[in-house]
Amino acid sequence: MADTIIHTPRDPNTLSNYNNWRTTRTAVSIDILFDEQILKGKVTHTLKSITNAETKEILLDSSHVQVDNVEVNGKKHKFELGPRLEPYGSALKIYLDEGVPNDTEVDVCIDFATTAACTALQWMTPAQTSNKRHPYMFSQAQAIHARSIFPNIDTPDVKAPFDFTIRSPLPVVASGIPAESNPKQASADGELETYRFTQPVPIPSYLFAIASGDIAFAPIGPRSTVATGPDKLAGCKWELQNDTEKQLKAAESLVFPYKWGQYNVLVLPASFPYGGMENPIYTFATPTIISGDRQNVDVVAHELSHSWSGNLVSNASWEHFWLNEGWTTYLERRIQAIIHGGDKWRDFSAIIGWSALTDSIKNFGETHEFTKLIVDLKGKDPDDAFSSVPYEKGFVFLYYIEKLIGQDQFDKFIPHYFETWSMKSLDSYDFKTTLLDFFQHDKATSQKLENIDWDTWFYKPGYPPKPDYDTSLVDEVYALADQWQRFTKDQNSDFTPKPSDIQGWSANQLVVLLERMLLFPQPLPVEHARYLGSTYSLRESQNVEVSSRYYQVALLSGDTSIKGHVVDMLGKVGRMKFVRPLYRHLIIMDVELATETFEKNKDFYHPICRAMVKKMLMGDKS
Ligand code: BES
Ligand code: ZN
Repeated sequence: MADTIIHTPRDPNTLSNYNNWRTTRTAVSIDILFDEQILKGKVTHTLKSITNAETKEILLDSSHVQVDNVEVNGKKHKFELGPRLEPYGSALKIYLDEGVPNDTEVDVCIDFATTAACTALQWMTPAQTSNKRHPYMFSQAQAIHARSIFPNIDTPDVKAPFDFTIRSPLPVVASGIPAESNPKQASADGELETYRFTQPVPIPSYLFAIASGDIAFAPIGPRSTVATGPDKLAGCKWELQNDTEKQLKAAESLVFPYKWGQYNVLVLPASFPYGGMENPIYTFATPTIISGDRQNVDVVAHELSHSWSGNLVSNASWEHFWLNEGWTTYLERRIQAIIHGGDKWRDFSAIIGWSALTDSIKNFGETHEFTKLIVDLKGKDPDDAFSSVPYEKGFVFLYYIEKLIGQDQFDKFIPHYFETWSMKSLDSYDFKTTLLDFFQHDKATSQKLENIDWDTWFYKPGYPPKPDYDTSLVDEVYALADQWQRFTKDQNSDFTPKPSDIQGWSANQLVVLLERMLLFPQPLPVEHARYLGSTYSLRESQNVEVSSRYYQVALLSGDTSIKGHVVDMLGKVGRMKFVRPLYRHLIIMDVELATETFEKNKDFYHPICRAMVKKMLMGDKS
C-alpha cells in the first residue's frame, strides 16, 4: 500500500495537472529588489511525466505573478496565463511541441517577477522595522501562497529538493542549508550579494521560504542558531538557548534522529502573522514568543516537531491538515511531558487546547464543515478553514488512540509511521491503513483498534469525546475561577481577590484562568474585570498570551477603559491569533474605533492578516 504511486489528484486546491507531472527538482535564482518591492528571477522545475497519456500541456499554479518567458529544455515555448479562478489564481499553461513519454523529464525555466498583489510576501520600509535602519522582506507560503512567488506545482502532494540562489543587499535566510561562503553582513555599498542554499530533502512548495533584512546571528545550541534584528539578538538568544536542544533531543527520542542538519529560528518583525512557521532549517517565529520569561518556548517545540510531521511526512492536501497539525500538537505535548517530567504537563497543555477547540467550534457553529477532522475544501480557500480544529481535534484523536492501545504500543507505531511516510505525502485513509497494518499481527491491539469509529472521527462535525485529562495543574486555577464566578453571581460572597491568589503561577496557568472566564455564561461585570486586571497586574503583563486574553475578558465585560490598551496592541502585534479575537470583541464594543484602528495599521499587517480583518469589518464573523 505505502509504495503505490497514486496518480489521481487528491488535492482540490491546485490548478496544476499534477496527475500528469511531478516536480523532481526546483532551482530558483532570485533578486530581492527592495526599492521596487518585488522579487525578480528565474525558476527551473525539472518535471517528470508520470502518465502514458503523452501530455502536451503543463499546467502550473500561479497567482498575481508576472511571467516574462518560458523555456522548455532550453528552447523558448508558447505559454498562456489562464483566467483567474478565485481563490486559486491563474493556471500557467505551457504548450509542448510533442507529447512526452512516461517517466521522461523536461526542464521548464520561467522568468518571473512578483507583483504588488502578491499574497506571500511582506515588504517593510526601514521606518516599519524595529531599528529603522534597513528594509525587510519575508515570505509565508503556507497554505497556497507559494504560487504568488513563482509558478509551481503548488500542492503538498508533490515534493522536490530545492536549490536557492538569492541576491540581496542584506543578509538572507531560507529554508535550505546555507553555503559556507554566504556573506554574514549587509553589503557595504548596497549592491546585491549572492547567498546560496540547498535543500536536499524533497519539500512541498509551501515550505519554500526566504527572508532578508538587517539580520544578525547567534548560537542557541550545538546545531542551532537564532537570527533576528541586531538590537533583539541578545534577548532572543537568552529566551531560546535553554530549551531548543533539549526539545530536539526529546523529539528524537520519540521519533528518530533529526534529518535536516541544522535547526534554526528566525525571529521576525511583529507583523509576522503566525506564532511560528515550520520552514525547514529555519523556523520563522513571531517576536511575541520573546517574553523575557522563557514561557512561550512551546511554540519552538511545536515548530521543530513539524520537522517530522508536516515536513518529512506531509498531508497530501489541506483537507487532511490534521495529519500535519494534530500530529505536531501531539509530539509537542509529548516533548513537554519529557522536559517538565510527567504527563500532567501535556494534559495541562491539552486542557488549554480544549478551550481553543471550544472557541473554534463556537465560532463556526457545531455543524459547520470546518469542524470536521477531514474537511471538504473543493472551491474553498484553505486559509478560511484555518482554526484550532485540525490541531486539537487531531490531537484528541491521536491521544484517544494512544490511550486505547496503551502508550507502549503507540510509541512503537510513531517511528514506524514516520519512517513509512518519510519524504512522502499521505491522506487520512493512508494513516488508517498504516495503523491497522502495523498491528495486524498483534491480536490484542488489533482488537482494541476495532473500537475506533473511523467515520465518526473523520466526518462528524463538532466536538469529539472529551478525554479525561489529569487536571492537577489546573485544579487551583479552576478553584480561583469558580470563586470569581460566584463573586459575579453573588455580590455578598466572601471572596476578596488578592495578588497572592496567583503567586508562583506560570503564564499558562493565567491563560487557563482567563480562558475559563471567557467561557463564563455571564461575562464579568465591568468593575470585576477592572479589579481582576489591577489585582493581578494583568494590564501590564509583558507576555502577550496573558495580556491579550485579559483584554478579551475586559472587552467582553464592556470595560471601555481597556480600549486604549487594545488599540495599542493592535498597532504593535500582527500575529493573527491575537489580532483576530481582539478585533472580534472590539467590533462589538466600538465598530468605529475598530475601523479606525484597522485603517491606521493596515500597512503594518501582513497581507493575509489584512484581508482577514477587512473581512471581519465587513461582517464576516469567522
Ligand atoms: N504551520 C503552522 C502555521 C500555519 C498554518 C501557517 C496554516 C499558514 C497556514 C504552524 O506550525 C503553527 O501551527 N503555528 C502556531 C503555533 C503553535 C504553537 C500552535 C501559531 O501560529 O499559532
Ligand atoms: Zn503547526
